[in-house]
Amino acid sequence: MKHLTMLTAATVIAATTGCSVSNDFTPTAGATGEEIFNSACIDCHTPGGNNVFDISPEKANIDTIATIISQGEMVMPAFPNIQGAELTAISKFVLAKNSSEETKTNGDSEKDETSK
Ligand code: HEC
Repeated sequence: MKHLTMLTAATVIAATTGCSVSNDFTPTAGATGEEIFNSACIDCHTPGGNNVFDISPEKANIDTIATIISQGEMVMPAFPNIQGAELTAISKFVLAKNSSEETKTNGDSEKDETSK
């Protein structure tokens, strides 16, 4: 009992002081990107229409986003238990919500300048 309380306190402190932390959230198999987002990301990435993320163009692709989620990035915690299909799903969800530009999810079409 006491251990659990200590553990919870340590997690809260780590999360609020911004040390690089690892989040042990594990998605259910087959979870959609939106479900994962609502469970694991929404506390920090508060949804506001489509402007949840503002990822620079060179990072706005599935592979880079997946790497950021797996390994963390400064204050952003690492999510080592989000893998495979679920990692792809949440990465696509993030990309779709990215505000920088209308990025195509298949990645092979040319960028559209009209949204600037
Ligand atoms: C504890 C708070 C916290 C949680 C939980 C969290 N993030 Fe983050 N995330 C951040 C912060 C703060 C940043 C921006 C700072 C930085 O780049 O280090 C960030 C940055 C990111 C970036 C990079 C954005 C950029 O512009 O480079 C992505 C992608 C991201 N988060 C996705 C997610 C996803 C997906 C989840 C859920 C699985 C999630 N985050 C959960 C705090 C969080």
